[in-house]
Amino acid sequence: MNFDIFKNKKIIVTGHTGFKGSWLFAWLNELEANLLGISKNIPTKPSHYNSLNLNKNSSWIDVRDKKKLKKKILSFQPDFIFHLAAQSLVFESIKNPVDTWNTNLIGTLNVLESLRGYKKKCSVVLVTSDKCYENLEIKRGYMENDKLGGSDPYSASKASTEIMIKSYVRTFFRNQTKVRIATARAGNVIGGGDWSNSRIIPDCVKSWIKRKTIIIRSPNSTRPWQHVLEPLRGYLILAKNLYQSKKLHGNSFNFGPNKNMKKKKVIEVVKYFSKSWKNASWKIVIPRNSIESKLLSLNCYKAERKLNWTTVLSSDEALKFTSDWYNNFYSKKKIKNFSLQQIISYEKRIK
Ligand SMILES: NC(=O)c1ccc[n+]([C@@H]2O[C@H](COP(=O)([O-])OP(=O)(O)OC[C@H]3O[C@@H](n4cnc5c(N)ncnc54)[C@H](O)[C@@H]3O)[C@@H](O)[C@H]2O)c1
Repeated sequence: MNFDIFKNKKIIVTGHTGFKGSWLFAWLNELEANLLGISKNIPTKPSHYNSLNLNKNSSWIDVRDKKKLKKKILSFQPDFIFHLAAQSLVFESIKNPVDTWNTNLIGTLNVLESLRGYKKKCSVVLVTSDKCYENLEIKRGYMENDKLGGSDPYSASKASTEIMIKSYVRTFFRNQTKVRIATARAGNVIGGGDWSNSRIIPDCVKSWIKRKTIIIRSPNSTRPWQHVLEPLRGYLILAKNLYQSKKLHGNSFNFGPNKNMKKKKVIEVVKYFSKSWKNASWKIVIPRNSIESKLLSLNCYKAERKLNWTTVLSSDEALKFTSDWYNNFYSKKKIKNFSLQQIISYEKRIK
């Protein structure tokens, strides 16, 4: 896949200091884009964004602040927007539901409000989640036209964001050709540089670095694990397609592991990951009122057919990329170079 289209283009990445956003920012920087990052803060310490030391244009704006956001977007005049800023954690959404709804739903609405009447061509990828589907614990993968739902505030905020986006596309962005919008629903991603709470790999790393035992609460859950670079490649292809043709305007796409990839349970991921750590230990404690869903997989046939996108790394390779990254980080090697090397090796894999 050729990504030359992004060279010198004005590109906004919201949530550029987060896990996925920092990788996307680094990748677009490699592609020589003219970047602007918009985030509220740097959410973790350590931080992949900080380690990258990209020294690029950053604006510290809360996406709930419509006035500031709109002003920034209009003054930058982007050709592309990747909207990733979100309250991204289920457990946090249970502690702070109102903030989660405001950030995820109203934050995205503010991005779209900023673009009403925008005169320049702009391709907009709005990132939601695989959790936007009503989880019926069915075996077949969820398809883009399946029912939306969500039994916790995070999932429901993402489902309602999807509904809001559709209404905006139909009402305000229907009879125009400049602003082209699509949504991206990816499953759980793994990769270096994630230190968020309540995600399995960061939790392992944070415990094992302190020689503590990690508590595993949903050992048998399966998630659509994929390396972070895989859905990011999907977002780039989607943005490129939207820019080149208006055919995909208003579409949603699933981005998950290809169907031949072996699904792994949480406990299998922990065991694999533990191989490269000295003294890695875990304990299984299943809470009585566990609310995490057990089975969730995506049908990604649409992305395969319309975008020629599918994951290329096996689950073992995705885990290896990830554990190599953390090993490098903690052995104090230059992590900026290592992240860039991983992007380059991944690009070679695609070719
Ligand atoms: N990480 C995953 O496994 C996963 C899976 C599915 C979907 N997603 C979605 O992908 C996107 C990125 O996820 P991530 O894991 O990189 O998240 P993250 O939590 O690592 O980063 C969140 C980013 O959003 C910014 N942000 C949060 N609230 C903000 C606000 N009010 N105003 C401005 N910026 C704000 C933070 O500063 C940070 O840059 C999110 O939309 C998330 O819901 C992530």
